[in-house]
Amino acid sequence: MTILALETSCDETAIAILRDRRLLASEVASQIAAHEKYGGVVPEVASRNHLVHAPALLKRATQSAGIALSEVDAFAATSGPGLASSLMIGASMAKGLALGFGRPYLAINHLEGHLLSPFFGDAEVKPNVSLIVSGGHTMTVLVRAVGQYEIVGRTVDDAAGEAFDKVAKLLGLGYPGGPEIEKRAQGGDPDRFDFPRSMLDSENFSFSGLKTAVRYLLPKIGLAIPSRGDGEGPHIRSLDQQGTKRDRSFYEGSLSSARDDSVVSDLCASFQQAVVDVLVRKTIDAARKHRVGLVTVSGGVSCNQELRKGLEKACAKAKLEFKTAEPSLCTDNAAMIAFAAMLKMEAGFVSSVTEEIDPNLALVKL
Ligand code: KG4
Ligand code: ZN
Repeated sequence: MTILALETSCDETAIAILRDRRLLASEVASQIAAHEKYGGVVPEVASRNHLVHAPALLKRATQSAGIALSEVDAFAATSGPGLASSLMIGASMAKGLALGFGRPYLAINHLEGHLLSPFFGDAEVKPNVSLIVSGGHTMTVLVRAVGQYEIVGRTVDDAAGEAFDKVAKLLGLGYPGGPEIEKRAQGGDPDRFDFPRSMLDSENFSFSGLKTAVRYLLPKIGLAIPSRGDGEGPHIRSLDQQGTKRDRSFYEGSLSSARDDSVVSDLCASFQQAVVDVLVRKTIDAARKHRVGLVTVSGGVSCNQELRKGLEKACAKAKLEFKTAEPSLCTDNAAMIAFAAMLKMEAGFVSSVTEEIDPNLALVKL
């Protein structure tokens, strides 16, 4: 079975072709440069860029896979959650291809794509507790089988990736913030600043207090912030470009001395450790409570080496198996959407081409 999938839920345009369990092509066009100057993703810019990139990616994907579109057995696209105007581009293309070639269309939940990605290429999906950590979501999910999911805990405010992005913005680092903070944290002292580990007695997560703690700390350690530098930019998705630009140049100027570099390094390491501690603790607790032998992690934040190491160590200690995908499958990509579509098709699932995109699509329908 050959599946072609499109992923356009946010600011990455991605197309992949999967034949049986083998990835024939996976193309991703990043829009980071187009959005960086705004300090976050601007929906109109994202959808226009999807329109520009998608036809060229489709050509590249079929060429590198060495197949013709007529050889594809089903066309899939992310149908939510995500930005409405971005989701529509990928879904419309997949529906058009499905109609044109007389093949089935599959609407795939972006979160299900992430959740299944640690099993990429595997024959079966074992029961597990899955930690999904991305820019828009943070949740633990009890996975009994493909399509059988129960939410254990979710964030009540910011997502983990959102916290990385907002703190990076407070520090005047680039977007997306996760990789920037991870880079700065290397060699930093994770015990230098005592940041809060929120809601440890709950199954849910909260990261906005942590971001606020960073904001209040900055003036105390001599890294004063201007009034607009509240870290709210990347996820507001507004067109307020001027303030954002001014904030960045302010920080770039203010964080130039060697002393500042070492303070920022310690701050990033301490912040990162606080996020990792909470994610690891709640994931292990969920696995114990639900008596599963396997823990998985997915989503952009799972590229973070400290998080991977933390989970690996804690799982070994708790005698749990640990599984994650390679980093290129953790950030947004279409290979995970193609893989989820393949598992769903094998289970007899197809969608109607009249199915609408849903920006708030839930992983588990109530
Ligand atoms: O899954 P993803 O690519 O897109 C969403 O579905 O949101 O996740 C993007 C998020 C961003 O917030 C980004 O800062 C974060 O993943 N991220 C990281 C790292 N790489 C990406 N966070 C921490 N450490 C990283 N190395
Ligand atoms: Zn994602």
